[in-house]
Amino acid sequence: MEGALVARDKVGIQDFVLLDETTETAFMENLKKRFDKDLIYTYIGALVVSVNPYKDLDIYNSNQMDLYMGVNFFELPPHIFALADTVYHAMMLELNNHFILISGESGAGKTEASKKILQYYAACSPETDLLTSVRDKMLMSNPVLEAFGNAKTLKNDNSSRFGKYMDIQFNSEGEALGGHILNYLLEKSRVVHQNHGERNFHIFYQLVEGGEEDLLHQLGLERDCLYYNYLTQGECAIMSSINDKNDWKTVKNALKVIEVSESDRTDLFGVVASVLHLGNVEFDPDSRGNASLDNNTELRWVSTLLGVNAQTLQEGLTYRKIRAQQDQVLSPFNIDHAIYVRDALAKAMYGRTFTWLVRQINESMENKDDTMKMVIGLLDIYGFEVFYVNSFEQFCINYCNEKLQQLFIQLTLKSEQEEYEAEGIEWEAVQFFNNKIICDLVEERHRGIISILDEECLRPGDATDLTFLERLEEKMGDHPHFVTHRLADITTRKTLDRGDFRLLHYAGEVTYCVVGKRDRHTQHTERVRPSQQHTGRERPSHSKYRERERPVQVATQFKSSLLKLTESLLAKDAWYVRCLKSNESKKPGVLDEALVRHQVKYLGLMEHLRVRRAGFAYRRRYEVFLQRYKALCPATWPHWLGLPMDGVQVLVQHLGYMPYEYKMGRTKIFIRHPKTLYATEDAFERCKHELGERKMCCGSNACCLLRTKAFQMDVAWKAAQARKEVERRDWAVKVIKKFINGFINRGDARSTDNSEYLAFVRQSYLNRLKLKLPQTVLDKTTWLTPPSVCQEASELLRKVYYRLMVRKYVRGISQQKKGQLQMKVVTSAIFKGKKDSYPQSITRSFLDTRIVNGHLVNLHSSQTYSVPVVKYDRKGFKPRPRQILLTTSAAYLVEEAKIKQRVLYTSLKGISVSNLTDDIVVLHITCEDAKQKGDLVFQCDHLFEFLTKLSMLANKQNAFQVVKGSITIEIQSGKQGAVDFTTGPEPLVYKDKNGHLMVVRHPPPHTPYPLKSG
Ligand SMILES: Nc1ncnc2c1ncn2[C@@H]1O[C@H](COP(=O)(O)OP(=O)(O)OP(=O)(O)O)[C@@H](O)[C@H]1O
Ligand SMILES: [Mg+2]
Repeated sequence: MEGALVARDKVGIQDFVLLDETTETAFMENLKKRFDKDLIYTYIGALVVSVNPYKDLDIYNSNQMDLYMGVNFFELPPHIFALADTVYHAMMLELNNHFILISGESGAGKTEASKKILQYYAACSPETDLLTSVRDKMLMSNPVLEAFGNAKTLKNDNSSRFGKYMDIQFNSEGEALGGHILNYLLEKSRVVHQNHGERNFHIFYQLVEGGEEDLLHQLGLERDCLYYNYLTQGECAIMSSINDKNDWKTVKNALKVIEVSESDRTDLFGVVASVLHLGNVEFDPDSRGNASLDNNTELRWVSTLLGVNAQTLQEGLTYRKIRAQQDQVLSPFNIDHAIYVRDALAKAMYGRTFTWLVRQINESMENKDDTMKMVIGLLDIYGFEVFYVNSFEQFCINYCNEKLQQLFIQLTLKSEQEEYEAEGIEWEAVQFFNNKIICDLVEERHRGIISILDEECLRPGDATDLTFLERLEEKMGDHPHFVTHRLADITTRKTLDRGDFRLLHYAGEVTYCVVGKRDRHTQHTERVRPSQQHTGRERPSHSKYRERERPVQVATQFKSSLLKLTESLLAKDAWYVRCLKSNESKKPGVLDEALVRHQVKYLGLMEHLRVRRAGFAYRRRYEVFLQRYKALCPATWPHWLGLPMDGVQVLVQHLGYMPYEYKMGRTKIFIRHPKTLYATEDAFERCKHELGERKMCCGSNACCLLRTKAFQMDVAWKAAQARKEVERRDWAVKVIKKFINGFINRGDARSTDNSEYLAFVRQSYLNRLKLKLPQTVLDKTTWLTPPSVCQEASELLRKVYYRLMVRKYVRGISQQKKGQLQMKVVTSAIFKGKKDSYPQSITRSFLDTRIVNGHLVNLHSSQTYSVPVVKYDRKGFKPRPRQILLTTSAAYLVEEAKIKQRVLYTSLKGISVSNLTDDIVVLHITCEDAKQKGDLVFQCDHLFEFLTKLSMLANKQNAFQVVKGSITIEIQSGKQGAVDFTTGPEPLVYKDKNGHLMVVRHPPPHTPYPLKSG
């Protein structure tokens, strides 16, 4: 743009965005002004508009390439090299993929543009043996593909009759390492039929005109294009503008460069020659009018060249094989049918050969190392075309152009809108003709033309071209872009035949003839089969065709390949070259204004321009703007130390910009009118001279050397950074791949595929577990559920961890607490789950004794425990307050320092308590002992404490009985009584009428028992 500003007064405006008004007239004037001076390129922002000059301009030489290398897009006059260079640098900077969409109608210069871009990249590449070889192969793929895929049409002497998308692959150093080509829908019908004024594919003429005598002899060919039926239908086999002889040499050489072996080359020319021979095979009618071939020389050549049996080939061309259960019946073709089959064979052979050739080229250009690569894609697809008769191929070609236009609309609108949004600038919508409606008309599922074509081809019964037309009328009769003879108004009807339908494409109206559309769409394997059985080349391993194979629907396949292409393109950054055809007669230096105006219109260039200028004609990043114009303001010159945005603000204020003239975005300044910028640029021009004097470089050798070194260091630093980044990404890709692979194989035994993933899973589990460990020994629920690979380890860890916690706990407790716990363990063993009052006892500590200052008998050192109790007499169950003392050998019942009874542990045969919440204890004592007075019944507030101590001192853990209902007691030898237990609203202990001691459930264990006298 800056370059454009400098040169704006010289020849028109170099960027349409800077036009003062965005009218079509101003646009055309500028275009013509520049075209008249052989300036064929003009920008609309970053989009390149190219007008076909139809003459060789000296603007593509190596000096020009050098000039554009590494220079800012807008610094030099518009050029296709500037775009190529910008794309390349954007790719290197952002390390991502890009594509250049080259569009325009047939003959507008798309293929030429794509070749220039390829040449530019080839020239950029450094010279190493490997790179030179790859580069040569990429360059040489063009003449080969053009020979086999291009032809002279009415629109273009070198028209691409196939779609081509080529990826050029670069490594992180920016070296072109390889390429890959995708080809789309070759116009095979051209092999057998050409319109008047058109030719077959170039290779046929090149072989016949340029082929060496020996070769022609070997292939059985005459050196005369007029001799071959397939070459003469257009009546222009020999063209002065095309030098077939020279082109033949180029192609032969190119085939060697792309490493097509000698024998493959022989086979390749053999197929080309056999197509020519096939075209000359003519059928005679036999007595029944059926097609017959008798000792046909051309057929013999075909059979020799393809290495197939002549008889089989002859049968394939003149008979249809009908299979009836196990038998095969041969049904003869009539002449028309035989011609149809012959042509189908020729088309299929040629089509497959073309595919093989593309594959061959890809193999030779392929870069086999698996390091990260970035690509720049070049899309050069047949342009929009309208002929007098437009067949199925034109329908596909034009549909493809619709799709690309749609892609363009989506991407340009989107990116512009996104830029305004990202910068926080208000967006003004610009009206577009959105051709989605036409794309839908063609491709919509179940309702589009292609779907209806599919249905018609697969429909049982006698579907014809006309029923297809009827179905179209039925389905899309009211569509504004579809018209047929029946649907049209009277004036339009005159321009349409009954078998036609017309589509109003974005680029204009095209009338398609339905005749044969179904046939071309349905490349029924049955029909193509002779070619596959007899050609010898591409002999398919899948020759055993399934009987009812679904026919290959060409348009449907094409549609899905376009869809795939669009998806792949959407994942890349887009750049555009819009090619315009200057005149129909291919004359140099002539610009047919009406023709160009029409293209400008349908390519949406005006809309694109308006969108670019919707609010602001010019925008630049703050750093760039400041760098260029900082000399215009004392505050920003020579260095602005603050933020670039602030610097720009200071600068524009100094320059006197009015608020409505510009907007400050987040990263860019947006200037509304070109004239504001011109004023700034003019000021800059005036300032330049002065600037020169102020330049930092004094011009001395030392100074220049320093600057060069600094520049080199900068480059080296950036390269090192980029390399690091690439290494990092490579590493990331590998890790991610490994992770995914490991995840997929995680259930398998440990292998190289999953070992790292499993290690990761283990580590991650352990890390998480570390943060979520249970905090207390009693917490049994917190343990993190392990993944299956860690289950065993997790279980072991859990056990170890709990043991560790227990150990820590145990080590942390005092001797006293330990004693307590040991006693509690005994209590638990005896009472847990048996006596209702046990749970309340757990938290209560056991004391050493319960009587501290009372009158107790001194039982010297063996006394260990004492507790007050209420003893019940054996006779009458009278309650008596007493104390019990425990020593190491006996329990003593004491009344105020007087021993009332001694129970030796040896004579203690049992201890009974009830299962309820009462505190009654019965000590069963051996009655043979005369000193004993029968069983002892008493109530003790510290029942569990007492009984635990007793149990431990007397070692009587096994003598305990927790009884339900009633405990039988020995009152004296031979006489028994009982203590009965029950629950009731009021806790009581009394002598019951039956003479038993009745204990009513007593919930709070420490409540004294009120006694009900019996
Ligand atoms: N930049 C150019 N300089 C000189 N001549 C050009 C230029 N571009 C195109 N031409 C001329 O126009 C002819 C047609 O161009 P080209 O084959 O690139 O058209 P196309 O858009 O690819 O058409 P199609 O869609 O039919 O393939 C070329 O053979 C060449 O003679
Ligand atoms: Mg082309």
